[in-house]
Amino acid sequence: MKKRTVLVLFGGRSAEHEVSIRSATSVIEALDARRYDVVPMAITRRGRWLSPARSSKRLSGVARRLHVRRCGMQPGRVPTGVDVVFPVLHGPFGEDGTVQGLLELADVPYVGSGVAGSAVGMDKDLLKRIFRDAGLPLVDFVTVTRRRWRRRRRSMLRELRARFRCPLFVKPACLGSSVGISKVKTHGALARALDAAAEFDTKVLVEAGVDRARELECSVLGNEDPEASCVGEVIPGAEFYDYEEKYLRDTAKLVIPAAIPRRVAERVRRLALAAFRAADCAGLARVDFLMDRHTRRLYLSELNTMPGFTTISMYPKLWEHSGLSYPKLLDRLIALAFERHADREHLRVQR
Ligand SMILES: Nc1ncnc2c1ncn2[C@@H]1O[C@H](COP(=O)(O)OP(=O)(O)O)[C@@H](O)[C@H]1O
Ligand SMILES: [Mg+2]
Repeated sequence: MKKRTVLVLFGGRSAEHEVSIRSATSVIEALDARRYDVVPMAITRRGRWLSPARSSKRLSGVARRLHVRRCGMQPGRVPTGVDVVFPVLHGPFGEDGTVQGLLELADVPYVGSGVAGSAVGMDKDLLKRIFRDAGLPLVDFVTVTRRRWRRRRRSMLRELRARFRCPLFVKPACLGSSVGISKVKTHGALARALDAAAEFDTKVLVEAGVDRARELECSVLGNEDPEASCVGEVIPGAEFYDYEEKYLRDTAKLVIPAAIPRRVAERVRRLALAAFRAADCAGLARVDFLMDRHTRRLYLSELNTMPGFTTISMYPKLWEHSGLSYPKLLDRLIALAFERHADREHLRVQR
């Protein structure tokens, strides 16, 4: 097989910049050197695209000492000679369709969902509406625009208090890593939670809390005929899976496979595939659920089109447990990128 050149994009402007560097380091170290040449390309926190030589300095370990292929660089452009791009970017300006749009314009195959799937996956309001349309189980939620909230605070509080019992969760629509999210335990704390979330986005979600929820996650892989992995569980050490716990304290436990009855696991996998299809995903996504620990009722929570991808992250770990090693998973993702590109290559764009 002809050797392919893979451009690995990482870093980026989101709160998950550091995680992206760790994910990209794992990806670059595991890409089979007999099959791929790697071009690392870092995007700084301020959005600057660095040359491959400078980019590799931002990686760690073995990935840092990588022999870097020289190639012409223009900011924001895919260098010539690149066969496929792996955007290992999490959160806004990377996982949300913006970079995918650039790659579509450049007409280069890339790993993961396209513009629409990425954008929908990032926007919890759009995502929930699509899930609702597909008949998938969700907790009750309301989306509030920041403008309406600021203009009609009192009447909105009245409406929300009438509709939701505590606990409830308030979150910015288009962020990740639990940034700006509050668990609201009394109605008196609702206004502050809305103000906090509105600092991060112009749309805020208010949703019914699943009390002492169990958090189940399932990895999906494929394009039109996706497959679901076994099911994992995150057991947060804190009250909920917040930013500190995700990135600073590292106290959350991943249990693979989750200790749930087989019937429940089967349902999670079925719902994960339905969610992947409904949101028009491609390549990969991690689908997250909340399960009421008393009634065992399941709710779709969210979907991540570029989930954490270090060798100890949930997405690849679930596949490893399902019999697909990390390097083989990368091979599959790259093959899927070529497949999706080929499927769309001869589409007519004119009459
Ligand atoms: N409706 C809810 N009920 C119970 N816990 C929730 C709810 N919504 C969010 N959480 C908690 O907050 C965490 C982050 O919320 P999530 O919607 O997954 O946002 P993010 O995209 O930032 O990960 C979840 O992992 C869970 O611990
Ligand atoms: Mg989450």
